[in-house]
Amino acid sequence: MVLQLHPDNRLSLNRQIKDGDLVIVYEKHDAMKAVKVSEHEVLQNRFGAFKHSDWIGKSFGSKVYGHKGGFVYLLAPTPELWTLVLSHRTQILYIADISFVIMCLEIVPGSVVLESGTGSGSLTTSFARAVAPTGHVYTFDFHQQRAASARDDFERTGISELVKVGVRDIQGEGFPEEFIGRADSVFLDLPQPWMAIPSAGKMLRGDGILCSFSPCIEQVQRSSEALTSHYFTDIRTFEVLLRTYEVRKRNMEGQDGSGSNGGGSVEEHPKKRKCGFDAGGDGTVMVRPSSESRGHTGYLTFARLRCVSCSDN
Ligand SMILES: C[S@@+](CC[C@H](N)C(=O)[O-])C[C@H]1O[C@@H](n2cnc3c(N)ncnc32)[C@H](O)[C@@H]1O
Repeated sequence: MVLQLHPDNRLSLNRQIKDGDLVIVYEKHDAMKAVKVSEHEVLQNRFGAFKHSDWIGKSFGSKVYGHKGGFVYLLAPTPELWTLVLSHRTQILYIADISFVIMCLEIVPGSVVLESGTGSGSLTTSFARAVAPTGHVYTFDFHQQRAASARDDFERTGISELVKVGVRDIQGEGFPEEFIGRADSVFLDLPQPWMAIPSAGKMLRGDGILCSFSPCIEQVQRSSEALTSHYFTDIRTFEVLLRTYEVRKRNMEGQDGSGSNGGGSVEEHPKKRKCGFDAGGDGTVMVRPSSESRGHTGYLTFARLRCVSCSDN
């Protein structure tokens, strides 16, 4: 279960792992995998063999040891972590874009959200948590197999009550008429979003917000033209650039230790140690820009539906 569906079901460090739960097995920030706990299974990795039966009854967040003395952490499957471990059937949205989208679309518990395409369901999973427990996400993809895999994933992560996946060509046919005037927000991640904008405008309630994600500026230009001629206003485009920093602890011999972001061996120029923070006897904590920081992902264009009957006032 990836979400808080009800305050009593909230996943927290106090919640104990049960047989059948989905857990994120964390080795380090770039080495994690989702595992369904099954009493008789054993996880094998480079740190050894880990019996699932040892995990049952432990709290989420626990550190567990394998037979060779290596360890992993068992984390609760939040949408943030799911985005990092899901199987990539398409390009996906990542946390920086996702959080910006949810904020700017003003998605809250109870919201009704329309989305296309579903892709790998990365964004959909975060939408589901944002609308829970009373809202709903209706997501559409024209690729039958992708839609089916997304449905399976939503079952696995426990959000299927909040998300309905439809198979439909949204650029060609638009969203289904049953949603006219009902959507609080519409999100498009399509190759030709301008083709879906007239339909999206009909689906939104007055004052509703649309967001379109496109990797190329030419797509943004065509979408913006369509938005201006279909009753949208307050059209704004953003590119979210994220700079990640690595936090590493170095021991007295100058070796990298396992910092809060995990292990790995990175050579550090000795002069740079001047900028380090003394971690109190057993090492220096280094914080520096990560060489893996993502650059451009895409452009996010937001627009608000104009209230047509109010436009003369
Ligand atoms: C880049 S993926 C979306 C990724 C998604 N935002 C995520 O975070 O996982 C784009 C999806 O749009 C779907 N798609 C492309 N054209 C479409 C159309 N005309 N109607 C519906 N879906 C379409 C593709 O099959 C693909 O799965």
